[in-house]
Formats: sequence, C-alpha cells, structure tokens
Amino acid sequence: MFTASDDRVSSAADHDQRTRGYPDLVPLLANRIPQTTGRRSVWINGRLHLGGAEPTVSATDHGLVVGDGVFEALKVTASGAFAVRRHLARLTRSAAALGLPAPDHDVLREAIDAVLTDRDFTDGKLRITYTGGAGPLGSPAAYGPPTLIVAAEASPHPPATTAVVTAPWSRNEHGALAGVKSISYAENVRALAWAATQGAGEAIFLNTAGNVCEGTGTNIFCVFGDTVVTPPLTAGPLAGITRELLLEWCEIIQRDLTPTDALAADEVFITSSLRDVQSVDRWGTTVFGPERPGTERISRSFAQRAGADPDP
Ligand SMILES: Cc1ncc(COP(=O)(O)O)c(C=O)c1O
Repeated sequence: MFTASDDRVSSAADHDQRTRGYPDLVPLLANRIPQTTGRRSVWINGRLHLGGAEPTVSATDHGLVVGDGVFEALKVTASGAFAVRRHLARLTRSAAALGLPAPDHDVLREAIDAVLTDRDFTDGKLRITYTGGAGPLGSPAAYGPPTLIVAAEASPHPPATTAVVTAPWSRNEHGALAGVKSISYAENVRALAWAATQGAGEAIFLNTAGNVCEGTGTNIFCVFGDTVVTPPLTAGPLAGITRELLLEWCEIIQRDLTPTDALAADEVFITSSLRDVQSVDRWGTTVFGPERPGTERISRSFAQRAGADPDP
C-alpha cells in the first residue's frame, strides 16, 4: 500500500453524490459501456429467437413491474457455459428465497444448449432470468406462470486490473434480499454508474455495521502477506460462484474487514463469473503497488482449475 485515506461513507462530498441526479452520468456512461455488436440469442419460455423479431415479455410481468425475479450470469468460453451446475443450484436457492417455484434444471440445460449452439462468438456471457410472470401492478404476489429467459451474447474480456471506490450507500446484510441474486439491481446500477464518475470500474459497498461487504457485481478479497481474507456471508455479500470455488481451491480466511483493515492490505482483488480474478490498483485514493504476488497466485490457481473442468 502506498497511501492511505479514510474512505468511509458519510462525507459531505458523498452526500452530494448520493443526492445528485442521473443526467450528468448519461453522456459519460454512453462512452464507457461496451455495446454488443454480435447477434444475441434469446430463449423465452420454450421459444428460441435468433436475431430478427425482438422477443417480448408481458408488460405486466412482475419482474418488470416490481423486480420480482432472480437471475444468473454465466461465463461462456470455447467449452460452453462455465459452472452450470453451481449456477443452477444458486438460481433454485434464490427462487426459493423469493417464494418462486423451483426452476426446472433439465429445461434450463436445454435452453442453455439452444442459445449457445451455432453462436457467432467464442467468449461471452449467458444470462438466465426467472420472474414471477404476469402479476398485479403492485407488490402482491405474481399470478404466474413464471417467465424463464435464457440469453447469450459476446462479451469482451475485462481488463486484468481496475480501480474501485467505496459506494456512498450501504448494503443491508439483514434485508430480505441479502445474499439473493434478485433482479432488483437498481442500487447496483446506481453505484456502478457513480463509480464510473470517479474513474473506477467497481463500487464497493460497506454493510450497515460499517464493514466491507461486496462490489456491485463482485466479491472482494484482501491480501495481507501470505494471508488472503474475504468477508463472510454474514456480512451480506452474494455467495459468488467464483468466491465459492476459490474458497474450495485456495487457502482463504473468511472474516469481517473494516474499511481501515481493507485499505491497509498489500493487495486487493475482486471476483465474479465475468471478471474471474481482477486485480485492484486503486481503492479511492489508496494506490496499491505494482507487485501483486498474492493476486497472481490466486488468479493462476483459478485459471488452472477452471480450465481443467468446465463444471467444477
Ligand atoms: C452483487 C454481486 N456480488 C458478487 C457477485 C459475484 O458472483 P459470481 O462469482 O457468482 O459471478 C455478483 C455477480 O454478478 C454480484 O452481482
């Protein structure tokens, strides 16, 4: 670590950022978010759409009306979708947490094959979205039947390194959606857009206790010498598949981290299905040195093990 600063949530500048509207973000985001250029394959409730006419869902779908749904995002490589079994298991857990019927894994596997067969890209992203289906124009439960969507598109490789900032909003580790991969991601969208205004590629949430929780779409790890630490699930992060695999494959300790602890780390990295292991070069005003042996070791182990088994 080269410089340290208190990157905590409640400064006046943070408050300004919290209350500022979107318009100032829009031109900036238009320049930063890569648009997909290839064909996007979409499967909805048993029907495959390969480009051409845009597939549709009902305007009263409860996912659209109140965010009543769950999802998975899987990495696609030359070998197909990665870690399908674990992603489907988490989708089922998330659906149960929202009171949705268990999704049919056989149907899902067929849908995944359907959108990936004859794809015009090698590396990409596959998204499964599962909502309550048609419902009222409010919070009472959806009528169903559920809507199931599987879509795939090309996705560029993320950079090996990124900068992060502490989000000026907290994650509620006691909330009904803590640890659930719900489609209600507007908080994450807002925080990621805010990170972009700070020149960063990810925003890190603290939880209501003030401890480090997770990024908007990533889990976080801190390296102290030979020791790698990540916040426990009780701190409120999503049980990331990449995090889960790293905990099985490498020696990693789960313990609460205050922001002061985290900023004193020798190295920091973040993980997700689409970023794999991504090194952090700056957290707010704290700059991490260019030597990152701990991150490289973990990244190498992950690449080796994941490359050897597409569904670990
Ligand atoms: C909030 C959040 N935390 C962590 C992760 C990382 O999870 P995974 O490794 O399963 O992609 C994600 C992935 O999208 C996420 O949305």
